[in-house]
Amino acid sequence: MYDIIAKKRDGGTLTREELAFAVNGYVAGEVPDYQMSALLMAIYLRGMTDEETAVLTDVMAHSGDMVDLSAIEGIKADKHSTGGVGDKTTLVIAPIVAACGVKIAKMSGRGLGHTGGTIDKMEAVPGTRTSLTQEEFFKQVNEIGISVIGQSGQIAVADKKMYALRDVTATVGCIPLIASSIMSKKLAAGSDAILLDVTMGDGAFMKDLDSAIELARQMVAIGTTHGRKVAALITDMDKPLGRNIGNSLEVAESMAVLQGKGPADLTEVCLQLATNMLILAGKGDAATCRKMAQQVIADGSAFKKCCQMFAAQGGEVSVLEDPERFRKAKYSYELTAQSDGYIYKNDVEKIGNASVLLGAGRIKKEDTIDFAAGITMHRKLGDFVKTGESICTFYADDEALFAAAEEMYRGGLVIKSEPPKLPPLIYARVT
Ligand code: URA
Repeated sequence: MYDIIAKKRDGGTLTREELAFAVNGYVAGEVPDYQMSALLMAIYLRGMTDEETAVLTDVMAHSGDMVDLSAIEGIKADKHSTGGVGDKTTLVIAPIVAACGVKIAKMSGRGLGHTGGTIDKMEAVPGTRTSLTQEEFFKQVNEIGISVIGQSGQIAVADKKMYALRDVTATVGCIPLIASSIMSKKLAAGSDAILLDVTMGDGAFMKDLDSAIELARQMVAIGTTHGRKVAALITDMDKPLGRNIGNSLEVAESMAVLQGKGPADLTEVCLQLATNMLILAGKGDAATCRKMAQQVIADGSAFKKCCQMFAAQGGEVSVLEDPERFRKAKYSYELTAQSDGYIYKNDVEKIGNASVLLGAGRIKKEDTIDFAAGITMHRKLGDFVKTGESICTFYADDEALFAAAEEMYRGGLVIKSEPPKLPPLIYARVT
């Protein structure tokens, strides 16, 4: 291990044997944290070649179960978002794609810090089981074409351990390490077609377009090398997607999109992501696939597919049909404008952190979530607001939480007399 660390420290290229020695030794407890930390820092500072990153990903993927989805007929499609605030696209896209006849056998994650996770949102629907046996999972996908469950603890075991170490050694923000971490889980999860949503902006890992494109390029290259169909969209995270942040609030907004009455930005991003998943799954060209996605929203079959999935997993479908039935937070609070003008900046990470302070997310993995807590934004980046008008509504079960959440939200809010330059929803497509 000493020689491997020294080789990378000096800018060398590690071989498969060396990477496997380090990663498998670390999983087995034979390589201590301090040596793996040093190697991760050397990688952070020296980088990796594409070949090294692909090999590292392969070794990490094989450190746990490799899910074999061949018992499910047809093309299986997956998607992954590198994280955001108000990012509820899986709940919309997965049913759209399944309603178009492509199988979705998907594992998703939970939220941590300012970013949310699909599994928490699903669990906001009372009764929903997000942990199924493999047999139940396969049966459901074969019967209704879709299941979304929590990631099994046996997927990419090395990533779990290495990510925890990166988190405390300032080595998370490294493109080859992010690419191998994400793609090891996606390869192990077994789908044929993988669409990556690389978010970019102040609420995302990638803060600028060049880094976002480089991360997308590396992940697409890894997937393609491993025989999967992969593409990436670079999407904006300089403002949250849609208007709602918080678990049951986000489910309600996703159902609105599936019923053709959701906010324009979220609807458009979901349509573009769904279109690209359908293209990867071989359903036709961009125009054909977009039409298919629009059609299953218009005829109600995508919403129906979503209800079928929740019902199959024990969820109370009545809250999807009428989100007013979700349990409401005990208290609400209007955060109002202190001057007239345009919302010139509204820091996404701070919005996410404010929702965590209200109880909608976790600071530590063990924290519990209040599904009813969160934020509804009435004015977003670029909107005009008058003094005293509500910018957003906070929801929480404890009124005492509003002060800290307000301070956090206002800390990232700038109102000016001129409007800001608005970012596009989608910056680029990488194949
Ligand atoms: N998400 C992951 O799964 N891994 C990373 O390294 C960063 C984001």
